[in-house]
Amino acid sequence: ETGYITLDPGYANTGSCTSAITYIDGEKGILRYRGIDIAELCEKSTFMEVCYLLIYGELPTAEQYTKFKDKVLFHSLIHEDMKSFFTSYPGHAHPMAILSAMVCSLSVYHPELLKPDQLPHERDQTITRLLSKVRVLAAFAYKRSVGEAFVYSRPELDYLSNFLHMMFTTPVKLYEPDEVTRKALDVLFILHADHEQNCSTSTVRMVGSSKANLFASISAGICALWGPLHGGANQAVIEMLEAIAADGGNYKKYIDRAKDKNDPFRLMGFGHRVYKNYDPRAQIIKKHCDEVLNKLGIHDPILEIAKRIEEVALTDPYFIERKLYPNVDFYSGILYRAMKIPTNMFTVMFALGRLPGWIAHWKEMVEEPGMRIARPRQIYIGEQQRPYKPMHER
Ligand code: SDX
Repeated sequence: ETGYITLDPGYANTGSCTSAITYIDGEKGILRYRGIDIAELCEKSTFMEVCYLLIYGELPTAEQYTKFKDKVLFHSLIHEDMKSFFTSYPGHAHPMAILSAMVCSLSVYHPELLKPDQLPHERDQTITRLLSKVRVLAAFAYKRSVGEAFVYSRPELDYLSNFLHMMFTTPVKLYEPDEVTRKALDVLFILHADHEQNCSTSTVRMVGSSKANLFASISAGICALWGPLHGGANQAVIEMLEAIAADGGNYKKYIDRAKDKNDPFRLMGFGHRVYKNYDPRAQIIKKHCDEVLNKLGIHDPILEIAKRIEEVALTDPYFIERKLYPNVDFYSGILYRAMKIPTNMFTVMFALGRLPGWIAHWKEMVEEPGMRIARPRQIYIGEQQRPYKPMHER
């Protein structure tokens, strides 16, 4: 209670809420999931374990972890009818359009999981199905875009290895991720897993607060993430770096454009509403870029361009005054490129990483006794009352 606005998990009256999931200190560049620093989670944990931590609030015991992984693996299939949905899309369809539509369509095949006010075990069933199937939908969207046969998950593979298998295995060649790629994907997904009340997570909360089902709430979050000011920035960064490379590597020209008030161009991957210091996720990803590309023997010229841009921008008064630093999207695309993920799948990768965070926030909100529908207020600045004017008098 602040005496003026009541903070609660559902933004009942304002755009603010309480939450116990993720802590960010934008000035100091701190990010913790359930109190644990992300650098420690990247070093010691796995994405699957972080999913459990975010959703259930604690790191799992060995028994809890095994049960959780087995349930997620068990739900790795989608209804066979859904395959025809994918082939009905044109090959050029953006995978984010397909993903949001397919996640909402999952609700058609799980009517038993749509009732509002689910019991805890019903919520858990919904959560494990969604965690497992969104990965399948993403891989199938990719396969549709390249005109290849859909590939099913394998029982002996872990969560992310199965995703890479469904993405890149073909009927004539088994894909087996190298250790470097596998670890880098764990780190990338851990870093994307949650970020408190960002645009897409707030969207999930907003939609879920009407007691719409989890499938619908996540589908809405995917749409919000798609925008180039949000998760779509990772695709926009690579397109920007490729444009600079095609323009003779003249990155200073683009930095000048970003500073020009009359030019709508922005340095994609730079700036953040909350971080007024270096985004701690960008620091970790940048370190992994060097390690992964060296270990895979990849020389990617756009990594050099990215580093040059960072060097110049961090010493330029325009960026310093506005506290504009590289954010999570600035280097992530370079790692995805090294993994042979196509650019139009980058934001889908962000969605897969962010899924446990979206789910955790939905669960935290719907479990709150007396949850109320979100209803942000406004200050009216339009016309005062006035009479209707007939057409001939207008
Ligand atoms: C994500 O909220 C989250 O937590 C999001 C996220 C998550 O994990 O969920 O962290 C993920 O979305 C990261 C952000 C990805 N988006 C981009 O990289 C797009 C490029 N960045 C900007 O569009 C911008 O920095 C935002 C959208 C990230 C933040 O926008 P704000 O807080 O509204 O900042 P602003 O637009 O008010 O800018 C403040 C000033 C302006 O200049 P002045 O009007 O004061 O002169 O900074 C300038 C802006 O023009 N500015 C930039 C810039 N970002 C801000 N100028 C050039 N290039 C940029 N990238």
